[in-house]
Amino acid sequence: MKAAVLYKFGEVPRYEDFPDPSPTQEEVLIKVKAVGFENVDKMMAEGKHFASNQFLTELPAIVGFDGIGELTDGKLVGFGGTKAPYGAMAEKTVVPKTHTVPIPEGIDAATAAVLPASALTSLFPLKWGAKLQKGETVLINGATGVAGKLAVQIAKLLGAGRIIGTGRNPDSLKQIMDLGADAVINLKQPKGQLSDSFKKEAKDGYDVILDFLWGHPTETLINTLIPDEIGYVGNRIRLVQIGEAVGETISLPASSLRNSGLEIIGASAGMTPEAINESTNQVWEWLRENKLKMDIEKVPLKDIESTWKRTDFQGKRIVIVP
Ligand SMILES: NC(=O)c1ccc[n+]([C@@H]2O[C@H](COP(=O)([O-])OP(=O)(O)OC[C@H]3O[C@@H](n4cnc5c(N)ncnc54)[C@H](OP(=O)(O)O)[C@@H]3O)[C@@H](O)[C@H]2O)c1
Repeated sequence: MKAAVLYKFGEVPRYEDFPDPSPTQEEVLIKVKAVGFENVDKMMAEGKHFASNQFLTELPAIVGFDGIGELTDGKLVGFGGTKAPYGAMAEKTVVPKTHTVPIPEGIDAATAAVLPASALTSLFPLKWGAKLQKGETVLINGATGVAGKLAVQIAKLLGAGRIIGTGRNPDSLKQIMDLGADAVINLKQPKGQLSDSFKKEAKDGYDVILDFLWGHPTETLINTLIPDEIGYVGNRIRLVQIGEAVGETISLPASSLRNSGLEIIGASAGMTPEAINESTNQVWEWLRENKLKMDIEKVPLKDIESTWKRTDFQGKRIVIVP
């Protein structure tokens, strides 16, 4: 079979022949249909990820750790738990029988490979972490990214009253208006003007903030939440920290928490098995109803070497198709 084979940590995987896998009694054979290509795949192959040695226990090995594929009876499943030398980016792989989940009918493999995980990134925080109420105002900081664009659509589907999205790319800012945002803030402006934009678009105040950025934009945003009057506590502003596309740290003034109503929680707050189950079913339902859009570029497995070196992934997800 053909596969993306890594010979040495730090090298680019090669597209070449690899012996077919044969499953043990505890494993199933998977005909791979689609594999999301993520930063984590590169980090693992560079040996820089904390789990590199856990997954790539021997080399040469096939890269990629999960994906969507067909069982021998033709049923489409999500799979994970590949074990070196077999990985996901190949025509076939093997995984433990316990590591497959059925994909509902009517959903294509490439969408199933990348969309649900990114959608859950904002559905959890909105519904279970921040407990968004219908009509509330939601600010999505980093709305022009893959996860942010889905966040705009999901906030709308959950009944947000007003949605404001931030980003830098003018085309993407326009796109998020088409996806349901009521206003956008361009982050590429001097700090003072950016503060003014955050204040202006808050109108009666933000209720929920989904933060994919951290770093200086989030710092500027939080500073605008500090009330002018001592003792005044406004809305409960639930800021959910999800990503750090801009920076790992911020400087947080005590006054921003003392009487602003600001509450900072993490993306996994409220994540229980029930919440995971309900949210996953909700995403499948929205997908069947064609209510979620994502920019996906399908790339044939044979192009893995050139794709591995690409850096133009902003705003879209790459899916490797064997
Ligand atoms: N915790 C989780 O479960 C989870 C899941 C998914 C993602 N994430 C994290 O969330 C973040 C976003 O992920 P993504 O997949 O949406 O990434 P993405 O598609 O690459 O989007 C990145 C976002 O960050 C903005 N950005 C990047 N550099 C910036 C800068 N210097 N100043 C201002 N804005 C900047 C981009 O704006 P423009 O494109 O407009 O320039 C875009 O909105 C990442 O940190 C990711 O690791 C976390």
